[in-house]
Amino acid sequence: MKKVANGVYSVSIYNPNMRSFDVELHTEYGTSYNSYVVYGSLKTAVIEANHETFAEEWLAQVEAAMDGREPDYLVVNHTEPDHSGAVAACCKLYPNITVLCSSSAAIMLKNITNDPDFKPQVVKDGDSVDLGGMTLEFYGAPFLHWPDTMFTWLLERKVAFTCDFLGSHFCEPLMFDYSIVYRREFSAAFKEYYDAIMYPFPSWVQNGLKILDALKPEIVATSHGPILTKDCVLDRCIEFYRKWSTENEAAPKKIPIFYCSAYKNTEKLALSIAKGVRKTLPFAKVSTFDLVNADIEQMADVMNESDAFLLGSPTINKTALPTVWNLVAEIDAINIAKRPVALFGSYGWSGEALPHLAARLQSLKAKVFEPQFKVQLVPTNDDLAAAEEFGKAFAESL
Ligand code: FEO
Repeated sequence: MKKVANGVYSVSIYNPNMRSFDVELHTEYGTSYNSYVVYGSLKTAVIEANHETFAEEWLAQVEAAMDGREPDYLVVNHTEPDHSGAVAACCKLYPNITVLCSSSAAIMLKNITNDPDFKPQVVKDGDSVDLGGMTLEFYGAPFLHWPDTMFTWLLERKVAFTCDFLGSHFCEPLMFDYSIVYRREFSAAFKEYYDAIMYPFPSWVQNGLKILDALKPEIVATSHGPILTKDCVLDRCIEFYRKWSTENEAAPKKIPIFYCSAYKNTEKLALSIAKGVRKTLPFAKVSTFDLVNADIEQMADVMNESDAFLLGSPTINKTALPTVWNLVAEIDAINIAKRPVALFGSYGWSGEALPHLAARLQSLKAKVFEPQFKVQLVPTNDDLAAAEEFGKAFAESL
């Protein structure tokens, strides 16, 4: 148990050896699942639960912190399982505890605990709870990074509990910013975390920053990584979020063109289409990527960070090539909605790849450009000129 401020202690779980978070996210520097205890003169609150895997270890820390008492409240700022997996175990250990959360979190928690009698107390933006000289205030902070997210503000100590916001997958023995030994690695982890978790939500990030600008915290106690303090890196971290969330808007349009090509026919189309896009949008970043030897994870980052993209595939076995499907499987399903996508490819017999890809992208709510552009076998010069026109037409539609 580490002291964060007077009456505020960390009961966090440290996992320095973890190298894969939620199966997909590589965590080179481990992570932590942060949780805090706040003591008022009348009541106590636990802020954030923990991952189900660490329920026993976490609750042992909470019990030690409680020293024979029972916590009155469990505040759940966000219900992704790394924070909510141990809620059921906590409620079992402390049957009189009141869970405080947003209205959308309440729905999620019912389905996470699978307890029909589970009745959290919903708090709204601006609500507060008095623990006795320690006031917890709640601020809705949706899409940072789930719809359920809220911040909890400890008024008397100027501590903001922001869950994933300003977090990092980084773990050292002492988890305060001023004690970080490997500072460059922390900076890298902080940026990687932003890119992986917050990047898709720039306007919501700015919304979260507005809340913090108004509160002026001395300490931001996140749910992953070191606690950030005003005397050390907090202001810089906030300014990084401000910069990263606004540069998305000012940057030139990113329009990558991905393709697979068995006999260079689809590749020829890709290069002609790129010429057309560039002619219409000379300031856009238009790059072509041959998927055959590419790192699909890297390609997925490029695709998910794009403003629009094009996807080319030949037809084999009446569908697109597996490599193309592998990229489609990496689409960020939340942020693909309304993203303009165009499809093209060479085919031998009947060309089913493009309608199959279109159906999948439409089911993800992408804005699929029509018509798709397909050419049978080897493109002629006229076909390549038509491909260039196709690129221009797609660019004009953006
Ligand atoms: Fe750390 Fe969105 O969970």
